[in-house]
Amino acid sequence: MKIAVIGKGGREQALVETLAASPCKPQIFSFPGSDAICETATRIEASDFDSLMQWMVDNKIDLCVAGEESYLVKDEGLANRCATAGIPCWGPPKESAQLEASKEFAKNFLLRHNIPTGGASAVASYDEAITAIGGKYPTVLKFDGLAAGKGVAVCPDAASAEDFLREVFTEKRFGEGRLLVEEFLTGPEISIFGAICDDKYLILCPARDYKRLMDGDEGPNTGGMGAVASRQLASPELLRTIEETIVAPTVRGLQKDGLPYRGFLYFGLMLTPDGPKVIEYNCRFGDPECEAVMPLLRGDLAEFCLAGAKGEFHPDLISFDNGWSVCCILASAGYPASSHSGDIISGLDSCAARVFHCGTKKTPAGWVTNGGRVLAIVAQGDTLDAARTAAHAEAAKVDFDGSQRRSDIAYRNM
Ligand code: AMP
Ligand code: GLY
Repeated sequence: MKIAVIGKGGREQALVETLAASPCKPQIFSFPGSDAICETATRIEASDFDSLMQWMVDNKIDLCVAGEESYLVKDEGLANRCATAGIPCWGPPKESAQLEASKEFAKNFLLRHNIPTGGASAVASYDEAITAIGGKYPTVLKFDGLAAGKGVAVCPDAASAEDFLREVFTEKRFGEGRLLVEEFLTGPEISIFGAICDDKYLILCPARDYKRLMDGDEGPNTGGMGAVASRQLASPELLRTIEETIVAPTVRGLQKDGLPYRGFLYFGLMLTPDGPKVIEYNCRFGDPECEAVMPLLRGDLAEFCLAGAKGEFHPDLISFDNGWSVCCILASAGYPASSHSGDIISGLDSCAARVFHCGTKKTPAGWVTNGGRVLAIVAQGDTLDAARTAAHAEAAKVDFDGSQRRSDIAYRNM
């Protein structure tokens, strides 16, 4: 089996390595890939979307796996183009990927299908936003488009809301777009992953990510500074509630609305005093949750995804270990406002944990930083304590100039 994995970060490296370890022994190719991914996968010689599609056809790719979201909604959409080319794709078509690409589309979907979520209104200007906030703080402002996890501001007061509104509507930091003003919810967060195949689904191992930059959930939102994953993260009762009130109605809603879906679907939930509520959908695996979850996966992910992409649902092909997995992210200087490239990374040889590269480059002088999030250091254990002790100890062995790492991953909110 020949599989093409689309993306270039730590999530894609985790997917590539897990797919490569599948008992069916597939050949893995990657676009755009990274130096680290291409130690396992073969880099696809393509320069853009058109040449990628042509390469996949010419090389008789059996399965395309969407790691990241951007290609799902680019031009006609990755899955749509794969369908035209006759290549099974694990990842939804463009019309369904609007669940992630448009916060307003997702909110309307949630409300239409009576899936628990925070109340919200969509606005198109600074003044409309101020009216919608109505002096009620904290408030949550969400740019209505893909913004790499940075388009959301939880604003405790008017000054912080006005700052963000200026970024969105005056400076247009994320480009043109509307904004959702959303009810502020409280409670621990949890990331639930579904593998969706038309009207069927499998709930995978849950995880929790840590989105703020600094310890104590302080500082700006990031793409994620670490994650903890385990089947034990949610009780069977909680999982049942989540399945009944959120996952099953979402899958029914997709069917009802005529939105085809074969791929991973990420439910970002808040466990509020009134029960679990959806704060976002993502049409792909979470990053860095994927780096934490994949090492717990057993079975044949490649066969599972290929079957699913063809509309054949085989949940028996994969399962998850009962232990714990903890991922610590090392980010470069300046992240998330900016990033720093070219800093030499030391200590990788002495690190005994699994390392996935989020943003690095291989040079004659060794691995160097090449992005905001740089490395994911991941360790497993039978107990939470064993996994987190190992992850932090191994992460501490790796360093580069200006590196940023949280010390409370898998300690806080547990
Ligand atoms: P999102 O990109 O929608 O997942 O939002 C990023 C982060 O902002 C979430 O992980 C939450 O920590 C926070 N957040 C989003 N929506 C809300 C909400 N309605 N109430 C409180 N916090 C929120
Ligand atoms: N970990 C958050 C995300 O993947 O969007």
